[in-house]
Amino acid sequence: MTFVDGLRADLGEAGILTGHDAEPYLTGQRGLYTGEALAVVRPASVDETALVVRACASAGVAIVPQGGNTGMSGGAVPVTADPAGNTARPSVVLSMSRMNRIVSVDPDRWTITAEAGATIEAVQQAAAAAGRLFAPDWGARGTATVGGAIATNAGGNNVVRYGTMRDHVLGLEAVLADGRVWDGLRALRKDSSGYDLKQLFIGAEGTLGVVTRAVLRLHPATPHAQSALAAVSGLDGLMPLLELAEARCGGDVTAFELVPDVGLERACEKFGLARPLEARAEFYVLVRLSSTEPVSDRLGAFLDEASECGWVIDAAVAVTDEHEERLWTIRDELPAMRLWDQHEHGVKLDTAVPIDRFGPYHDEVRRIAAELAPDALTYGFGHVGDGNVHMYVLPTNDDQVEPFLAVRDELRERIEEATFAYGGTLSAEHGIGQLLRDRIRHQKPEIEWDLMQAVKHALDPQGIMNPHKTLPADPRQA
Ligand code: MLT
Ligand code: ZN
Repeated sequence: MTFVDGLRADLGEAGILTGHDAEPYLTGQRGLYTGEALAVVRPASVDETALVVRACASAGVAIVPQGGNTGMSGGAVPVTADPAGNTARPSVVLSMSRMNRIVSVDPDRWTITAEAGATIEAVQQAAAAAGRLFAPDWGARGTATVGGAIATNAGGNNVVRYGTMRDHVLGLEAVLADGRVWDGLRALRKDSSGYDLKQLFIGAEGTLGVVTRAVLRLHPATPHAQSALAAVSGLDGLMPLLELAEARCGGDVTAFELVPDVGLERACEKFGLARPLEARAEFYVLVRLSSTEPVSDRLGAFLDEASECGWVIDAAVAVTDEHEERLWTIRDELPAMRLWDQHEHGVKLDTAVPIDRFGPYHDEVRRIAAELAPDALTYGFGHVGDGNVHMYVLPTNDDQVEPFLAVRDELRERIEEATFAYGGTLSAEHGIGQLLRDRIRHQKPEIEWDLMQAVKHALDPQGIMNPHKTLPADPRQA
């Protein structure tokens, strides 16, 4: 009996996909990476997951955990070769798609327990039905899963108020590389009893074990929410603007997102949306207040004061649900892959810098781009309230592609060096995966990679958990 037939005998037909049925699981959503696998394995329970991991461990088969496959860095797609170019060991994709249940909603504890394959949207809806808020949110909410969000320490649009996924995981359960199940499904807000092991699995991209369930933190529902798109006078005014919003709106600032005019214009044109405001500026901030109480007066007063200070030129305040939705549709359409046909040739980075340095950092990226690729389009968008913007330098028509490709590597390297020089990160919320594995090594001192390698070796001595992801191939050669 082959290895896959053995798994099929244990999990049944529904648990194994091969051939054509497996294909959608073997290419990442950005189309950057395609891998090969013996099969896509779909366990329906924690016990079945442990059984698969034990079978893989004894056969030396690698395991590539996968959630909604919306990842941006190739973390959930098998590699075909190791960093030295040798054929990688055979692998299975471990899809959590059948483990998608909401296990329990506990409003009195302010928690929800969900299986790893539950979508972010399903968790949001279950929490809302119990009068609570599950705060993490981003465009791919309907496909992205709890397990994938934990694996990448996903962020999204509400981090400025509620934090990243790391701030929402109170406990988790994981299948370890030897097939043992660690039940860490605790719901404690405080726990000083030694190493906080769950943190190791958050942001680890499945390289240390497979997260199967998690206890997630809930917040009070915020029935009153209102957003405004404010044209700003320049990037220098952004941080004072955020400070003013926090000072006047008492912690109700749930989102503070940077929207460039070039993206706004393109999104409106491409998706047939009306421009939300007449005034034009190079950048806008999409700010949302949400609260248990009405927010309209505070939003208006904040915008008035911001305009008196000269930081805001004009603003469109959403006065209907439809208007509110339109502002956020525009925001969700800003990723390059939604807007520009040539996007795959561009330099696209998920950078964050300390928030007080964002303006100068953005200027520096533009300076580098103007020097090396003067015809390209350069802008950042997204979670500026966290210092995290998705930085793009893109060719936007076919004629620009060839000259752009001639300088792309140098351009990317120079921007990455600038990011490090500003104390920033190349991976604020999209993980490392295959994409950044070797590019990110200069971001941290060697001792940090050494410590991570030690953790990896302790938890996965055989190296079967999502190999060749996250950790640089050999930090000592850096
Ligand atoms: C976003 O904030 O829209 C995404 O994280 C960025 C992207 O999809 O490129
Ligand atoms: Zn983002």
